[in-house]
Amino acid sequence: MHLHKYEKIWLGFGVIALVVFLSVVGVSAFAQGHAPSSGHMTIDPEKVRETTPFDQPGLHKKEDGTYEVAMIALTFGYEPSKLQVPAGEEVMFTLTSEDVVHSFSIVGTNVNMMAVPGQINHRKHTFKEPGSYLVICNEYCGSGHHFMSTEIEVVE
Ligand code: CUA
Repeated sequence: MHLHKYEKIWLGFGVIALVVFLSVVGVSAFAQGHAPSSGHMTIDPEKVRETTPFDQPGLHKKEDGTYEVAMIALTFGYEPSKLQVPAGEEVMFTLTSEDVVHSFSIVGTNVNMMAVPGQINHRKHTFKEPGSYLVICNEYCGSGHHFMSTEIEVVE
């Protein structure tokens, strides 16, 4: 009799756990689909070069005076390969990958973004000091991974 009771309790617990799990998954999927600014925006990885802003990789000054950098990660480098950004200005890095998963990690800063094909990621950063900043790929992406880097020139 007792065993039977415990079995029921455990079965009930299992069902509740499953329901909770499914609602969490459902809610986060829902939240992502309806709030792309806080989650990930999507892009057709085959059409990166035709999709704004990646049709013009590099620095753009937007109409509201803010700066955006459109950055494409690819095996084994970044587009644009040369980049100048202003010091003391907030820059929005908008990133995607053309092929496999890479990262865009600016050494000496807390910018460490994943570059995922089909996905657009954003990260804001203000460079306080002018100088040359090294960008490396932190995600293993193939034979050229260790050489995948670029530089950002921060100018006054
Ligand atoms: Cu790209 Cu590692």
